[in-house]
Amino acid sequence: MNIKNNDFQFAVIGNPVKHSLSPLLHNHCFEENHLKYKFSSILIEDISKLKETILSHNLLGVNITHPFKEVAFEACDKVSKDCTDIGAVNTIIVRNDKLFGYNTDGDGFLNSIRDFNEPHSVLIIGAGGASKAISHALDKANFNVDILNRSKEKLEYFTDKGLECFGPNDFLCKEYDLVINATSAGFEDNELPAPKSVLRKLLKHARYAVDIIYNKKTPFLKLCDEYDIVSKDGKDMLIEQAVLAHLLFIDYSRSESEIRNSMKDALDWFLAFFNIFKPGFMAF
Ligand code: ATR
Repeated sequence: MNIKNNDFQFAVIGNPVKHSLSPLLHNHCFEENHLKYKFSSILIEDISKLKETILSHNLLGVNITHPFKEVAFEACDKVSKDCTDIGAVNTIIVRNDKLFGYNTDGDGFLNSIRDFNEPHSVLIIGAGGASKAISHALDKANFNVDILNRSKEKLEYFTDKGLECFGPNDFLCKEYDLVINATSAGFEDNELPAPKSVLRKLLKHARYAVDIIYNKKTPFLKLCDEYDIVSKDGKDMLIEQAVLAHLLFIDYSRSESEIRNSMKDALDWFLAFFNIFKPGFMAF
């Protein structure tokens, strides 16, 4: 293996990866603590080279982004139970040339809705990777979770977990406390994740709504504004999954809330000064 002499110890790996805000968030925390670590990004084309890439760069820790989260699961030597349940890894710790996989997306989402007053019933719209991680964390925390997707093909994972799932034609529009858009509808287009009439019925009864797309007022969030509910985009989830990853990366005396505040400062600063920054989708 050709060992590289890079000056960074942590990286986010994906394709594309340039857009990732992970370097911004983690580097700001390292700098604030006068730690000489650096977090960079690595674009890889050949998916089979994931482990080799991580080891050849002598990395201590890695974030995995789209489209490698499932491949990363296969590449790790050991994974946490959450990863096994979701089938995906978004954080890797390297020890003695072995890869240890974790997934902070689901618990990151859960932490991002701490300010919501105990929603009990939740509808997740979408059945991709983000939806798997979020539904797993919510189900583990005893929320009552249903799934709605525009097609039936991806629902098997969720029905196998015992969740109630609906396709476009069999949706029983129940009353949910929290409605989550975990689809990419509205990310690069102006689409709603489900028919407007269905969303209107849902939002009439909901208390909360989240869109995991961040830095964009999506059509879903605009529709939420017409109702008396609390809604938010995916920025808090972005921060919270990074906080949990950061705590896995290094063992130091800063509290979770100090890391969170530090990352929030970095993100607020970045979004204020670079308002040309494109929206992001938490699954990417
Ligand atoms: P990831 O795995 O990265 O979360 P994905 O597999 O592309 O992303 O899944 C995205 C989800 O958004 C899917 O559930 C997709 O629905 P399909 O299973 O029918 O493809 C959903 N999705 C994407 N665009 C959508 C749209 N315009 N309206 C409704 N659902 C949409």
